[in-house]
Amino acid sequence: MNNINPWGNDIIKDYGKLIKDFDIQPLSEIEYENPNIFMRRGIDFGHRDLDKWLEDAKKHKAAILTGIKPSGVYHLGNLITAQKLVYFQKQYNVPAFYAIADIEAFEDNGIPFDKGFKNAIDNVADLLALGLDKNKAYIYLQSENKKVMKLSYLAAKKTTNATLKAIYGERPVGLYMCALTQIGDILLPQDDEFGGPKRVLVPVGIDQDPHIRLARDVAQKYNLIPPASIYHKLFKSLDGTKKMSKRDPMGYISINDNEKVLKEKIMKSYTGGKDTIKKQKEEGGDADICPIFDLAKFFFVQDDKQLKSLYEKCTSGSILCGECKMEIYKEAAKFLKEHQSKKERLKVDAEKILNQSKS
Ligand code: TRP
Repeated sequence: MNNINPWGNDIIKDYGKLIKDFDIQPLSEIEYENPNIFMRRGIDFGHRDLDKWLEDAKKHKAAILTGIKPSGVYHLGNLITAQKLVYFQKQYNVPAFYAIADIEAFEDNGIPFDKGFKNAIDNVADLLALGLDKNKAYIYLQSENKKVMKLSYLAAKKTTNATLKAIYGERPVGLYMCALTQIGDILLPQDDEFGGPKRVLVPVGIDQDPHIRLARDVAQKYNLIPPASIYHKLFKSLDGTKKMSKRDPMGYISINDNEKVLKEKIMKSYTGGKDTIKKQKEEGGDADICPIFDLAKFFFVQDDKQLKSLYEKCTSGSILCGECKMEIYKEAAKFLKEHQSKKERLKVDAEKILNQSKS
């Protein structure tokens, strides 16, 4: 059994095996009132204690928290967690927490703190443009937050070297420190300042599960409620081989890309298509491995019937990759244009929120 690596770009081939190896609960038994795209389409596939969280959310004893490394502008992979934060805040009317992991961006990606702050303004503007209610949200920088520091030291006190090694493998101590800082983030909503113990749901990509496991372990040692989680499948880079990441410039779509760049990236992208038109018409394409189909499935085709029809057209060979790319490009361009104009107006608010979060 391999460790899951929260600091790499590996994609995961077998989600079923992962669920078994790490004792993650499958999502299939959960019933939602107003499921979002990720839930409806099996992009969300696993959880820890989501059922308990849903119960506690009804009783208003719950919160939602996620975070981001401010290592650049959002790419589409980052958009997933942001959209989920907004969804849960609205749907369950719970307070939302958003950690700007500037310590981790410094340690893991070499981003200086002032640059991290600038990136964070852009990231928070995205979050507001996606509809986060800032009046029911606590957005903060790790490096400026004494409570997170306190909680991460408490976590460190109860965590041995052997535990860290078992969860993460042998790593530079700096990455262990980032992990413990993230445990501080995850426990923050249970601090007295926010009304004490409550069930916290953390929506993240499955690569972050090691942190969730450690946070649950530490929570129990302090009589706090073990945080819950909901996991989505990792969003692939446009060459289909890795997780979408800022480490790989042509492989990712940035939320700030203009139409020209967007078109170029989509047109150059790898697909599940066949080598020749003849072969594709005969055998059909492979939508399940196609990053372009993923763009449709995760974001740009909202209607389930329309998505199904695209899948059928692809796999039966009745649509070719060029035409499909053009269709998805148009949808993506429309979304990005609207989003970018909304976010531009929200940057002032974003900067204000971040300045206020400084101690
Ligand atoms: N480590 C996360 C990432 O690389 C970012 C993060 C920091 C986070 N603190 C968090 C995610 C708390 C969820 C909860 O993307």
